[in-house]
Amino acid sequence: MPFPIHRPRRLRSSEAMRGLVRETRLAPSQLVLPLFVCPGEGVRREISSMPGNYQLSVDELVKECAEVKSLGVGAVILFGLPETKDDVASGAYAEDGIVQRAVRAIKRDVPALLVITDVCNCEYTSHGHCGKIVDGEVDNDATLEWLAASALSHARAGADIVAPSDMMDGRVGAIRAALDRGGFRKIPILSYAAKFASGFYGPFREAAESAPQFGDRRGYQMDPANGREAMKEIALDLEEGADMIMVKPALPYLDLIWQARQRFDVPIAAYQVSGEFSMILAAARNGWIDAERIMMETLTSIHRAGAGIILTYFAKEAAKRC
Ligand code: PBG
Repeated sequence: MPFPIHRPRRLRSSEAMRGLVRETRLAPSQLVLPLFVCPGEGVRREISSMPGNYQLSVDELVKECAEVKSLGVGAVILFGLPETKDDVASGAYAEDGIVQRAVRAIKRDVPALLVITDVCNCEYTSHGHCGKIVDGEVDNDATLEWLAASALSHARAGADIVAPSDMMDGRVGAIRAALDRGGFRKIPILSYAAKFASGFYGPFREAAESAPQFGDRRGYQMDPANGREAMKEIALDLEEGADMIMVKPALPYLDLIWQARQRFDVPIAAYQVSGEFSMILAAARNGWIDAERIMMETLTSIHRAGAGIILTYFAKEAAKRC
């Protein structure tokens, strides 16, 4: 007869008692802030669908990174808005591309901050797709060359970690080979291994100006209905040499973060994506929820499910509260 012997409420009687028995704690060092870098100088343009997030020119980005570092945030991940887009994604792998310039500037002025680069083509193609179009479709194998070249150019610029987010088959192996050949054996790959074709990326596509101009991404990103296939994608990326893997989005896919945590002994990241962020702020602006509270509750849940690394637009705010 459990009750009245057992009374779980005994351990909830005060904040001190709750703190003593708390199972999941967030630390700033496990948070990663996504940042958008654009051409120009002195540019700090707020993204209307993502309040508090900006398109930043390199000089402003460096200032932001100094603040991020001082808050103890673990890393930043960079997305680029190139001067021009074309159908071969030149800006993605140009030695003086926008992300490459940004990485050099951060590494010069804030060297201790870990810099992750997102490796993808959609911000750099005129059509907004993540790869080379052949016969109206994204061609997998041709795209691998662009990805390998991009990752290598990021490493040359000084990136600490490269993170491919394109969902082409074989990209982790192709990137690993290119990095090793280029002398970057020590640069780890964080693979967006289980990335879903999600409606939650809407605000990001405004931020990164990367919406596909025709069709959608369902031919390469995963079907939200498939969990077993997510485990297969993760296993394949690990076989190809991924050092860390990611599940994306985060909150609607907590079951997959949990399963991955049980099955794979590597660091697991989760991306609380733009739509997850903007929904919270929109509801808070209507007075329906408390943004700060929901921020900590969602991040704690993502961590509890098994993600040791969390990419989130709340990174700075959350770092101040954990
Ligand atoms: C690039 C990329 C996207 C996101 C991260 N990397 C957009 C997409 O796949 O359309 C989305 C991140 C977010 O919504 O916050 N492929």
